[in-house]
Parts: sequence; C-alpha cells; structure tokens
Amino acid sequence: MVQLTLPSNSKVSTGKTWNAPPKGKAKSTWKQFKIYRWNPDDADNPRTDTYWVDRSACGPMVLDALIKIKGEIDSTLTFRRSCREGICGSCAMNIDGKNELACLKSMDDVSGAIKIYPLPHLNVVKDLVPDLTNFYAQHASIEPWLKTTTPTPPTEWKQARPDREKLDGLYECILCACCSSSCPSYWWNSDRFLGPAALLQAYRWVIDSRDEGTGDRLNNLEDPFRLYRCHTILNCAQTCPKGLNPAKAIAELKKLMVERRV
Ligand code: SF4
Ligand code: SF4
Ligand code: FES
Repeated sequence: MVQLTLPSNSKVSTGKTWNAPPKGKAKSTWKQFKIYRWNPDDADNPRTDTYWVDRSACGPMVLDALIKIKGEIDSTLTFRRSCREGICGSCAMNIDGKNELACLKSMDDVSGAIKIYPLPHLNVVKDLVPDLTNFYAQHASIEPWLKTTTPTPPTEWKQARPDREKLDGLYECILCACCSSSCPSYWWNSDRFLGPAALLQAYRWVIDSRDEGTGDRLNNLEDPFRLYRCHTILNCAQTCPKGLNPAKAIAELKKLMVERRV
C-alpha cells in the first residue's frame, strides 16, 4: 500500500544552537548557518543545528565557515572536502536550495541564514556526507578509459587538435554529483537510469577520436532506462558548478543512436 505520510523517524527536528553571540551583541560580520545533522550511530531523528560564525575571523567561502565550525565550534560536524578550489568535487552539498561546491560558494551570495543539506535524494552516510556508491558504480559501468583494438603505438596515442577540442566541455567534469542529484529522472530511477554525470562521461569516450569501442559503448546504452530516461528537464545543466552541459551530451548520444540505425 502506498504510504502518504513520512515515517516518524524521518522528520527533521530543530537541534542545538552553537556559538550564539550574546543577545544584542551580534556584529554585522556574524553569519548564521542552519546545518542538517544525522548520525547513524544514535537513534535520534535528523535535526538542523544552528551555528554562528564571525566572518571577520573566517575566509569568504561557505567551506571556510564549515572548516571553522569543525575546527573551533563543533568537531562532530561531518562533511567531505579536499582541494578547496573546485577541482576534487568532494565538497558538493545543497546550499540555500541549490547543489553547489561549498568551496566555490561565497557567503556573500546568500542573504540571511545559510541553509546547508546533503545532496538530495541520496542515502546519507552522516551529516553532509552522501552515499555515492551507486553513483561511482554507474561511472565505472560506462568504462571510462580508452578502448582500442589496434596495437598500442610505441610512444603515445596521437590526436589532431580539432579532435582534441571535441572533448572540451566534457573532460572537465569533476564527478561532484551535483547534476545527477538534481535530476528528477535520477531521483526516481537511480537504480536503472545512469544519470547526467555518467552519461556525460559516456559521450566523452564515444566521441574520442582515439577510442575504438564506440559500437560497444552505444550497445551498452541501448536500454529503455540507462539513457532514455532523460526527459530533457535541464536541471543538470543549470546546476553544474563547472558550467558543463550534460543534457546536451545526452542529446548527442541519442542522436548517435538514431544515426547508427538508419
Ligand atoms: S536533462 Fe536529462 S539528465 Fe539533465 S536533469 Fe533533465 S532529465 Fe536529468
Ligand atoms: S557534469 Fe558538472 S555537476 Fe555533473 S558531476 Fe560533472 S562537474 Fe559535477
Ligand atoms: S573541496 Fe574540492 S571541489 Fe570543493
């Protein structure tokens, strides 16, 4: 039977307030954060904790504030990060209602309290850390490496400049999962639809002039769900923090599927 109400253990309650400035003493430099917290090791419901950060003693980005909170206010707050410059893709989270990289999101871009949740529609490991096991398995399933049948050249696989330029707008993907976790088709069918990130990479290898596995790669996508569950809603292109357009890559894949049939 369809359940139309949320189970009681899924309701998000209001949590603790940390580092609040004394009443009436909040300087104009103080910023408030409302952050999703959930710990699988206790039986508590998820909650949103409120943190106050004095921006005059903090870097400008949302990730700077998270690192300050973890280092100086509440060491139990859990999130992923590594490079701090939009390269590793690990700090992806939902900030102020949009999937973003915390290291590229300026606190100045959000007026009022900054609300932070994990990427949507993924299982949560803890706090702001989503479970990306399925996401990575889908990426592996498109075989993201050069597949060739001709013997390997003694030095390197050469590529003409115009062919290399075809990879622009594709190779820059950092696998942050902002696009896939913003895609309604992926929310409902993430077990069978590959999602925009994996499909962008599938196209990247299909159009690589050095790759000789195109037929197999397209066969691998010939399925009612893996590719065709994209309904061109375009959330993916709007959210990508690297300015890439997975929807366009998916449309090109669909075109190649048609062309090889005629
Ligand atoms: S264009 Fe396709 S992949 Fe992108 S958000 Fe829409 S349905 Fe998802
Ligand atoms: S296409 Fe953009 S949003 Fe999607 S995983 Fe790659 S970098 Fe992230
Ligand atoms: S910390 Fe690497 S992309 Fe944000």
